[in-house]
Amino acid sequence: MDHFNYQQGALAVEDVPLADIAARFGTPTYVYSAATLTRHYRVFTEALAGIDHEICYAVKANGNLGVLGLLADLGSGFDIVSVGELERVITAGGDPAKVVFSGVGKRDDEIARALDVGIACFNVESASELDRIDAIAQARGARAPISLRVNPDVDAKTHPYISTGLKENKFGIAVDEAEALYREAATRAGLNVIGVDCHIGSQLTDLSPFKDAVTRLLALIDRLAEAGITLEHIDVGGGLGITYEDETPPSPAAYAEVIRELVAGRDLKLIFEPGRVLVANAGVLLTRVLHLKPGQDSADKHFAVVDGAMNDLIRPALYDGWHRIVTVDEQPAATPRAWDIVGPVCETADFLGQGRELAIAQGDLLAVRSAGAYGFAMASNYNARPRAAEVIVTGRDVHEVRARETMADLMRGERRLSSF
Ligand code: LLP
Repeated sequence: MDHFNYQQGALAVEDVPLADIAARFGTPTYVYSAATLTRHYRVFTEALAGIDHEICYAVKANGNLGVLGLLADLGSGFDIVSVGELERVITAGGDPAKVVFSGVGKRDDEIARALDVGIACFNVESASELDRIDAIAQARGARAPISLRVNPDVDAKTHPYISTGLKENKFGIAVDEAEALYREAATRAGLNVIGVDCHIGSQLTDLSPFKDAVTRLLALIDRLAEAGITLEHIDVGGGLGITYEDETPPSPAAYAEVIRELVAGRDLKLIFEPGRVLVANAGVLLTRVLHLKPGQDSADKHFAVVDGAMNDLIRPALYDGWHRIVTVDEQPAATPRAWDIVGPVCETADFLGQGRELAIAQGDLLAVRSAGAYGFAMASNYNARPRAAEVIVTGRDVHEVRARETMADLMRGERRLSSF
């Protein structure tokens, strides 16, 4: 359920017509619904009732300060992959003590900053990283809380670019190497071994890969216990899928049930790193039709050129991502046609959707649904396009949580040679 509905013939977010937002902030604009985000968070955490757990929202999905602030207020922790994400969390009022730090390439300065602010755990991805964390912690007279990210070698059956839990992927430490590394870690003065983690992929629509991964991690936990290494938590990563088109992902309740059964009777805290499932369907990309280029004969394609492009939302170009596209006007007068919705960027891959049966006229507004995750977060300035504005709607109110970039923003920090 979300709060994007037609009211009096026009698509609204909560109580605000999208046309009002376009008039006030221009297009393209990312529009998020606070009520939808809040609901998704609550559904997730309620599904976990009775399990000792922490939700560490994956900041990479949408790191806007407004979004992070809402989640911090709801009590969420955060999964970060860079010091930039850490600073965002802190600026938004998030609690560093609820932060886990993932990622294969942590730099020394990032490790140092995370230690200084007292994050909950480093999710370590290699023996080399373990050495650096130990050395940096010892130099500061600190002990770094660590978990090893184990690569359970399970097939998440998702797009290859967002599959992370196979042996051939760069992520994590192979299960059969992890045990020796845990033994080594336990001897280091700068490390406090507290957990194990994994993340097998994103947009998963089946529970069995989660089950397989957690089962393998629990077996490892048991082997470690025999060796005298007791872990306090298991972090199962993120990855729960959503409905973009006709996918039928498991509900958070069904997902939680599987995990609950697997960990029953164990004294383990559970950490979850959901991203997409919390924010994707809480956002749309609002865009306006600039030009129509209808084909001349029946075999031709019809192009609707809009002001949003692959630099704003790269998922269709990069992963064949399918996003529902709807007209803001509920019953537009134009005749429906199968339009390719394309942007102004000079690339054939610059499309938001293809062959969409829509009734559109020049100047109409379109909403690209399910754009709250990996939308703005992956936006670029390609073709010298300023990045879109972002707004959050709360009931009748619209809050501009990121201003549209200006020409000055585009050129910030750059110089001609003759100006030195
Ligand atoms: N934890 C770790 C360590 C991750 O690498 C990720 C996502 C998550 C949690 C959150 O996963 P989620 O719950 O959102 O599936 N840009 C791609 C998705 C990349 C996901 C990368 N890692 C897309 O647009 O589909």
